[in-house]
Amino acid sequence: MDQNLLIAIDGPAASGKGTLARRLADHFNLPHLDTGLLYRAVARALIDSRTPLDDAAAATAAARGLKLTTFDPVRLKETGVGDAASKVAAIPSVREALLRLQKDFVQQPGGAVLDGRDTGTVIAPDADVKIFIEAAAEVRAERRFRELTAKGENARYEDVLATIKGRDARDSSRSVAPLRPAKDAVLLDTTHLDIEAAFRAALSIVEAARAGRERR
Ligand code: DC
Repeated sequence: MDQNLLIAIDGPAASGKGTLARRLADHFNLPHLDTGLLYRAVARALIDSRTPLDDAAAATAAARGLKLTTFDPVRLKETGVGDAASKVAAIPSVREALLRLQKDFVQQPGGAVLDGRDTGTVIAPDADVKIFIEAAAEVRAERRFRELTAKGENARYEDVLATIKGRDARDSSRSVAPLRPAKDAVLLDTTHLDIEAAFRAALSIVEAARAGRERR
């Protein structure tokens, strides 16, 4: 690729932003960072050491000790870790401790794709393309429910929906870096789109932004 391309994708829980970010990263041959894994790793460390999730000092120490290379995405994606991550993510000193790692990722030559809650607003405010993924909570819960049952987990749709709504509320109402679209983000509603259609839509948003940049 001849140009730097930095793509920031944000959105609520189970919106499919991670899948889209990975697909875009593969398509453009760019490194990808799922920033949710950082918060999940902090939560996992507290869960494993039986530390309460509101212990700000312990959560901040765990955040400071994180290295991107030691992540185990399978354990970090286990049920319950996302909700716990949403709790530690509301602690300002945890966010502060994770900022440098993410900012460094953004600086890589060639560009990168990041997905999360604040990548377009805080981590990469100068990104070339910002996409904010939306989808009805019921549809996101249905997708997550199917994923869990496919993995053999004994999930109830009502519980999955309640957890998703709880995370939406917590992630959107916290004082630091709340979940919200950047002013210059393009909104992509995937409520009625399957993953292929969502990928094509995301790709055209990126291509339109690149074409606009070349015209300037
Ligand atoms: O995207 P995810 O489900 O893996 O994220 C888990 C939690 O981490 C999410 O509910 C809130 C938090 N998070 C955040 O606050 N900021 C980010 N950039 C990414 C995730």
